[in-house]
Amino acid sequence: MKIKEQFVENDYLKKSSYYISLQNGVCKVVSLINPSYVLELGCANGNTSIRIAKENPNCSVVGVDIRQDMQEKIMQQQKLNKVKNLTFVCGDLTKLNNYNIKNVDCVVMLNAFHHIEDPLLNKIDFLSELHSKMRSGTYVVIGEPFLDEKYIGSETIIKKMFSNREKESSYNIFWNNVATLERNDNLILKENSENLAKIVSSEQNDVIKRTGEYYVTKTWLENEASQVGFEVVISEYVNIFNDGVVVLKKK
Ligand SMILES: C[S@@+](CC[C@H](N)C(=O)[O-])C[C@H]1O[C@@H](n2cnc3c(N)ncnc32)[C@H](O)[C@@H]1O
Repeated sequence: MKIKEQFVENDYLKKSSYYISLQNGVCKVVSLINPSYVLELGCANGNTSIRIAKENPNCSVVGVDIRQDMQEKIMQQQKLNKVKNLTFVCGDLTKLNNYNIKNVDCVVMLNAFHHIEDPLLNKIDFLSELHSKMRSGTYVVIGEPFLDEKYIGSETIIKKMFSNREKESSYNIFWNNVATLERNDNLILKENSENLAKIVSSEQNDVIKRTGEYYVTKTWLENEASQVGFEVVISEYVNIFNDGVVVLKKK
């Protein structure tokens, strides 16, 4: 395959700055953990799993995604990247019994935590089950676009947001958080970002739809993870778009 084709083929999420900054953050933490066994839940076309496998050649990486059609994409990329330490498993990330969690050193979720559907109790149950199955001293690395904390306490805005999550997931995260914007600019940006969402859904084969995405704030994740027994080791935004990395450790 020619260089340009490889570049385009690997152009997941358009290699946008917000995605790259999140992936950089997650991969940096994973390498610091120096794991022997990584499980990436919601791995999509394996962009991050492949990077982790390359950067940690002695580590076995298992990527899980509910979409069987991701397997072929991962296999193509694996071949191109000469990666042998990665296996794809087609499955539901919330069915933790299906994975060998007790042997895993590090569970990675990049842009995947928000796929655990509402109600929020589902996310709490997921964290709790993950905690109970992990060995002590092991890690969960979550890279997520988080909801802006400024909406907390404003019931009307939250209700509106949650009744229209599909649009919100795009304009809140990609555009609306730019601190210097004037109020009027937001309307223009909202329009732009809704168009962007359409482009994302129509042009990207790897992201078929933007429904079924249920975001939380970073504080919510920190609190709930602590409640189920995790130590919050790192909780940092990686850019101004509210993308952040939260690292949890089973004590
Ligand atoms: C935004 S993509 C993840 C991107 C990927 N982690 C990366 O770093 O490039 C979200 C993925 O989660 C997958 N997904 C959504 N719900 C899932 C579930 N219940 N179980 C497994 N995978 C799921 C989708 O199929 C999609 O491929």
